[in-house]
Formats: sequence, structure tokens, C-alpha cells
Amino acid sequence: MWDENGKAYLDFAGGIGCLNVGSAHPEVVAAVQEQAEKLLHTCIHVTLNEPYLALVEQLCRIAPISGEKKALLANSGAEAVENAVKIARSFTERQAVLVFENAFHGRTNLGLALTSKIVPYKAGFGPFTPEVYRIPYAYCYRCPFGKTYGKCAYECVDAVYHAFETYVDPRSVAAMVVEPVQGEGGFIVPPPEYLPAIRQICREKGIIFIVDEVQTGFGRTGELFSVQHYESLDPDLITMAKSLGAGLPISAVVGKADIMDATVVGGLGGTFGGNPLAAAAALKVIELMERDDLPARARIIGQRMTTVLKELQRKYPAIGDVRAQGAMVAFELVKDPAQKNPFPEMCSAIVQKCGEKGLILLKAGIYDNVVRMLVPLVISEDDLETGLSILVEAIDEAMAEWQGNMNTLP
Ligand SMILES: Cc1ncc(COP(=O)(O)O)c(C=O)c1O
Repeated sequence: MWDENGKAYLDFAGGIGCLNVGSAHPEVVAAVQEQAEKLLHTCIHVTLNEPYLALVEQLCRIAPISGEKKALLANSGAEAVENAVKIARSFTERQAVLVFENAFHGRTNLGLALTSKIVPYKAGFGPFTPEVYRIPYAYCYRCPFGKTYGKCAYECVDAVYHAFETYVDPRSVAAMVVEPVQGEGGFIVPPPEYLPAIRQICREKGIIFIVDEVQTGFGRTGELFSVQHYESLDPDLITMAKSLGAGLPISAVVGKADIMDATVVGGLGGTFGGNPLAAAAALKVIELMERDDLPARARIIGQRMTTVLKELQRKYPAIGDVRAQGAMVAFELVKDPAQKNPFPEMCSAIVQKCGEKGLILLKAGIYDNVVRMLVPLVISEDDLETGLSILVEAIDEAMAEWQGNMNTLP
């Protein structure tokens, strides 16, 4: 990207993970142009259109869900999540929803009810929709139970049963909504046993297992969808958005047909959901993902970034944790690695220095102390290396300033 003065920037944020195929992929642009000349809008409540139909067929083909599938298109991630919860409530005729600490599911009222961070997302925006119950996530670096992974008894899994004993009757729970890697929460990758265990609890209790792949989907984690890192998670519903549209607003809920069919005709949707232009872009994204094997590229990018960050971690104990699944890469900053007290000032200093040097990065985490990277998967080797060297330089400078100022940053 270039600013108004012609200064160049490398983009390691991708408009918060929307640009897995890049910011203006020529084939996406051509597909959108071609569609624009034919038809801009119908509203599917009035007339279906070809891109909508073609896209739901493609999404049902690629979604890692067993059995017959159906799909619904909407405009944003929050809308996809809202619709998924509506579908689960209709199907189960139950109301409660289980969600997680550190979760982010969007800025609509239900989205905020499901979201975990108070400032800036929830503060002042209540009241929120009721019947939402929150349980801890498997955030092993900051285990909510004070345990160490490998020596624990999966207290985070027991917490679900504890919730059923103490504050919500499992027979009233319609859905569990979970991010397979928490995004805004700080790229928290759960240990391999966690999601299969909570998925099994949902099966036992007849709870719809909704996996929110809005940020993790479309190649980001080294698979088309993050749930494909597991043998048989088999979600009931998956929500998708962001990189699905390559920068155009579109989202989807894909799920098991019997569950998707539980709502009455006209109960879901909206005026613009599955707009033909955005659907044309999404069809091209799916084609590019498969043709150019972008998930494989995500694995290579992620490995390279992780290697550089782990090296820096050996040098700087303030880099408390380096986390990645594919090219969803982050590092968490702490003042002292033993205490793990969050270091948001260092996080801001690094992000700011990178910006000044021409590298766009993002913060994340409940404590704003995580630097996260969502590099477009079409990045060239040269640009990746240039971006990484800017990052290393910025970290070196920020750490030196902190140490030079007797461990304080401005
Ligand atoms: C996991 C997840 N779900 C939902 C959303 C909300 O998406 P949108 O901002 O498109 O409404 C986001 C956005 O960051 C997200 O990361």
C-alpha cells in the first residue's frame, strides 16, 4: 500500500484477515467486473441469482462437515454468527448459548453478548441479550486454573461440566459457539485434545456445535478451515466471512441440512445477503485457494515467521509466548516472563515503530499485549523477508529503549 505521500507499506494485517488472496487479486477483480456488467443485485427473498446459488454449492462442497449440507449467505461475520445461533435455537427449541472467555464474535448486540472483552467492545453498549453463559478457554499460556499443559487434568474441559452443574441446565443449551483459534483474544491455539473433548460434550448433550471460522477460515491456518487440523470435529454449523470475499462484504453459515432447515422460510437472510458481486469474488477465492494451494503457502509462511520470532524470544524474555497455527501468527509481550504481567506499552511501541518503518501490524489480546500478523498468503518471499526484517528492527529498538530507560517506555 502507498499513503498520500507515496510512502510504501507492507501489509501484515490484511484488513484484519480479509485479504488471504491479496488486496486486489487480478482474477478476483476481473470476476467482480464481469459480474458487475451483468447484475448488481436481486435480493434472494425476491429472486435467486446465479452467483448466490453457485457459491452455496461450492461452500457445501468444501465445508468440513459430514452428511448433507446447506448454506446461507449474509454480509458480515457478526451476521453469520447471529444466524447460526438463530438456526441452533430453532432446531433445538432451546435458548441458552455457551461461549468462551477471550471470545470475539462481532459488534451486533448478540455478537457483543457472545464477545468477552469489555473495553472497547462491550462497555456502555448494554444491555445484552440474555441466556449467554461463559466458560474458560484452553489458554495454556495463562491457564485459567493455574495449571501447566502436560501436567494438568484438562480442568478447562471439566469447566463445561461444572457450568452444567452450577449455572446452566444442559437441556436448555441450544449451542456452543467456539473459535478454533481465538482471534481478537490473542491468537490462542488450544492444545490438540481440547476441541475434540468439548465437541464430544456437545454430542452427549444435544448441543449444536458452532465453529466460528470467520478469522481462521480460507487457508489462514494452513488448512482451508482450522477444524481440518483435527480428524473428526465434524461441526454442526460453521460461520465464515472475512477472506471469503477478498475484501468484499460477504459471510456464510454452512451446516448440516436438517439443522439448517429448522427455520421457517423467510426467517433468515436480509436485503443484501449473498450480493452477486461479493459472491462472484468469493467463488474466485475458493478457486484460487484450491488451484494455488494457498493453505500450503500459509504453512510455509507461518513456519518462517515462527522461526524468526522464536529466535527473538531467546534474546528478549519480554516475548513471553510465540503462537501460531499456519500463518495466523502472534507473540505475547510480558514485563517479566515468570510473572507474565502484560506489557501493552511494548506492544504499542512495536506496532507504532513498524508503522513508521512501513509495516502494518495489529494488536490483539484481552490485555492489548499481543502483536498479531495476518499476512496475505500470496506474499512474495522478498516481501515476507523485508517485513520480517522491519519487525526485527522495530523489536530491537523498542527493547533497547525500554532497557535504556531503566525498563520504562514512554
Ligand atoms: C472470530 C470472529 N467472529 C466474528 C467476527 C465479526 O466479523 P465482522 O466484523 O465481519 O462482523 C470476527 C471479526 O473480527 C471474528 O474474528
